[in-house]
Amino acid sequence: MEFSVKSGSPEKQRSACIVVGVFEPRRLSAIAEQLDEISEGYISNLLRRGDLEGKSGQMLLLHHVPNILSERVLLVGCGKERELDERQYRQIISKTINTLNETGSMEAVCFLSELHVKGRDTYWKVRQAVEATQDCLYSFNSLKTRKEEPRRPLRKIVFNVPTRRELPIGERAIAHGLGVSEGISTCKNVANMPPNICNPAYLAEQAKILENEYEKVSTHIVDEKEMEELGMSSYLAVGRGSVNESMMSVINYQGGEADQAPIVLVGKGLTFDSGGISIKPGEGMDEMKYDMGGAAAVLGAMHSLAELDLPINVIGVLAGCENMPDANAYRPGDILTTMSGQTVEVLNTDAEGRLVLCDALTYVERFEPEAVIDVATLTGACIVALGKHATGLMSSHNPLAHELLNASEQSGDRAWRLPLWDDYHEQLESPFADFTNLGGRAAGTITAACFLSKFTKKYNWAHLDIAGTAWRSGGKDKGSTGRPVNMLTQFLLNRSGAEQGE
Ligand code: BES
Ligand code: MN
Ligand code: ZN
Repeated sequence: MEFSVKSGSPEKQRSACIVVGVFEPRRLSAIAEQLDEISEGYISNLLRRGDLEGKSGQMLLLHHVPNILSERVLLVGCGKERELDERQYRQIISKTINTLNETGSMEAVCFLSELHVKGRDTYWKVRQAVEATQDCLYSFNSLKTRKEEPRRPLRKIVFNVPTRRELPIGERAIAHGLGVSEGISTCKNVANMPPNICNPAYLAEQAKILENEYEKVSTHIVDEKEMEELGMSSYLAVGRGSVNESMMSVINYQGGEADQAPIVLVGKGLTFDSGGISIKPGEGMDEMKYDMGGAAAVLGAMHSLAELDLPINVIGVLAGCENMPDANAYRPGDILTTMSGQTVEVLNTDAEGRLVLCDALTYVERFEPEAVIDVATLTGACIVALGKHATGLMSSHNPLAHELLNASEQSGDRAWRLPLWDDYHEQLESPFADFTNLGGRAAGTITAACFLSKFTKKYNWAHLDIAGTAWRSGGKDKGSTGRPVNMLTQFLLNRSGAEQGE
């Protein structure tokens, strides 16, 4: 897709389609008004006759509107003018893109970027429009033998901005939107890949691709032999039931000074989680291929970061592993010695994510990080707590938590904080080891984070539980969402001091 910005009036556009908003009830936006005047009331006549109410997401495609140079005019319902918020804006853009893609306009000039969205500037509106477009046009069809593609797909879109002065802002928004979208698409591609293809070695290959593509990226793959030497027995135990070797990919992006402490992102990379000996019920088990969604998001954020060429140092860790039942598998009752030296009694082999992450989190101490953020499809309990709308955020460091919530708010990639009080730790007490890997039914998301917090004392740390947000379940709509690449990249953009709004 080709994006650009322009500052022009609607009647002067010579395009396959121009896109303008109509509010409820039957009220023309300022731009639609201009078209109406030129066309001598053609549009307002249609509205009067009841062809379009203006409800959010309604579409009416017109051909050969009198005195208009463009072939088509797409009227887009935007709901009540005063109620237009961020979520609605994104939905309207998505619907518009789908309509354009299906109705043969290969290019369009879109005036929806001039709508008033409370508290949001041109930068935000253009960037969100670019991201929503790319999100909408994504499809994963590399494994289909017959690919269904529109006959005349949308190829070029111009977003209009109110004044010429805002053109550079719009251009920056496009660059950022494209950079973020690239990472989101990388995340979706690896996450959607089936587990017979996407195993820990496949994740390592993706890391290598990044290294080959970008000069500032170098990678190191920690294999089972090196894990053994490092004492990562907990991580290794989880992978022992699988024929696929565990592999931890360490991606180093050096955009800042050599002595600048890095930000470290750690992603849970269970390329399949059967539950192991504590095996999961069969229904929907295929979706546990998405248990590497954290690693996919870290890979995606590293891709965005490299694409945007940000002047900071970031290390991304993909903790690749597969959890399978087998004669050689680890079992409930086992006591493992983690890389930190602390011992864990395994009460359930399905609480494996924390056992992999704890060693990865100890491993990254060597980088003397400025901050560490782990991203994991860690607990089903997070879906119970927050549903599929928000990522769970837990942190022992208030400023870091607020920075992430801020990034979440800016990017529209929702997150909500849960507490991480000491009170919860007693749920992990064990009679035989330092603690167990199972906190019981109450507050499962928090006790999982408490477990991780025992391994993150040497740096500022935050944990993102993406169990509910990493993918969409179900029938034909199933697929990776690419979350929370946007939030992470926004956090990195903010950290690098990149200029964004006005
Ligand atoms: N990967 C799962 C968590 C999960 C389940 C994410 C469903 C998304 C959808 C994790 O490894 C797991 O199995 N967690 C257990 C923990 C329990 C045994 C303490 C869970 O959530 O049931
Ligand atoms: Mn599990
Ligand atoms: Zn898991």
